[in-house]
Amino acid sequence: MADATATMTMDKGLDHTIIGESTKSFIDGQKGVLEYVGIDIDSLARESTFEETTFLLWNDRLPDADELDAFTNRIRSQYDLPDGMWDALRGLPHDAPPMHVLQTMVAMLAAYDADCDVQSREAEESKAIRILAATPTIIANFDRLRRGLDIVRPSADDTMAESFLRMLNDETPGTATARALDVCLILHADHGINASTFATMVAIGTESDMYSAITAAIGTLRGPLHGGANERVMRMLQGIDGLDAIEDFVLGRLSRKEKVPGFGHRVYKAIDPRATYLKTFAESIATETSNLELFKMSRKIEEIMESQVGAKGIHPNVDFYSATTYFSMGLAIDLFTPLFAMSRNAGWAAHAMERLEDNRLIRPRCQYTGPHGVEYRVDA
Ligand code: ACO
Repeated sequence: MADATATMTMDKGLDHTIIGESTKSFIDGQKGVLEYVGIDIDSLARESTFEETTFLLWNDRLPDADELDAFTNRIRSQYDLPDGMWDALRGLPHDAPPMHVLQTMVAMLAAYDADCDVQSREAEESKAIRILAATPTIIANFDRLRRGLDIVRPSADDTMAESFLRMLNDETPGTATARALDVCLILHADHGINASTFATMVAIGTESDMYSAITAAIGTLRGPLHGGANERVMRMLQGIDGLDAIEDFVLGRLSRKEKVPGFGHRVYKAIDPRATYLKTFAESIATETSNLELFKMSRKIEEIMESQVGAKGIHPNVDFYSATTYFSMGLAIDLFTPLFAMSRNAGWAAHAMERLEDNRLIRPRCQYTGPHGVEYRVDA
């Protein structure tokens, strides 16, 4: 039987396949460089805000002051949820995984958008703004509801980071904590065609809508090989009986060929620049919040991993030190990945809108290895 795939190259993890051109993020995995639209991640983390970085990713340039004001106001005008969505949020089981809650609620936003099926750059950007703006409201208030607390509506005076923290804790966040979260949002905003961004592109590539594309991405980010690793890192740290137990723990895992969460990356073979930044961050916030032991444990895991598998290019990734950072901020562990999604909304939408400018349906093949001509017969 003729098999058209016989002459094609198998690339199971798409490691060697380029699926298009992009101006959004550049990664040099050998040198540990990450740039958004040509600007080094370090400069953005020091100088920018999450809102400004989002504008950059969506427009391929930084905004001037008036443009940033207008963009920020557009986001803030969409912080609140339609009444029916508040009711739905209240009705969800309190033990539901927050990533599933987020995925459900983002899909629900589509039901409240009369322009859901309008396909233009402007319409897609409006949808992306709704998703971006509603995400902190959804995550923070689901956490409140499951703690038996009343909802706190968002304030249009807040940045996204401030808004999330104010709703979560029902108090004005400290400037340093809000800025720390803002920097984390910048660092996680985009990262080339990672698994969840690819999911976004597969969905938008069918000319489906932004809500469908981002719900696909949220489900993909949740996996422990991707964004779900930050939760795994924290649970691993909590499961180790102090600094003295670390060496045996790590060596034991490696000898059983079990992966250590928060290490390794498909693209980076040098240290992930986001991890370098987050490490400094984790140390200062852990010190301020009496979680230094946690940071020291992370450092020791890193040291042992470096001596054992560093030469193979396995180093800490973005998830390793973000776990200590978020935990020290007082966040529940199962909110770590939703926070990642809150930030990555920016990158998902950037790539979806970029793809629509020059779209081609994504439709790979697989090599069929099953039988042919099998007779239809059901045994009695
Ligand atoms: N701990 C120990 N060994 C590892 C790790 C790790 N975290 N990661 C990779 N390796 C080893 C593998 O065992 C394998 O060894 P071998 O050649 O002796 O068989 C080798 O490195 C290659 O690993 P692969 O899994 O084939 O590499 P791949 O490019 O597919 O993996 C991945 C990348 C999935 C991120 C992997 O490193 C991993 O599972 N890490 C742990 C989970 C994690 O932290 N994910 C978050 C990634 S960042 C992000 O998505 C936001």
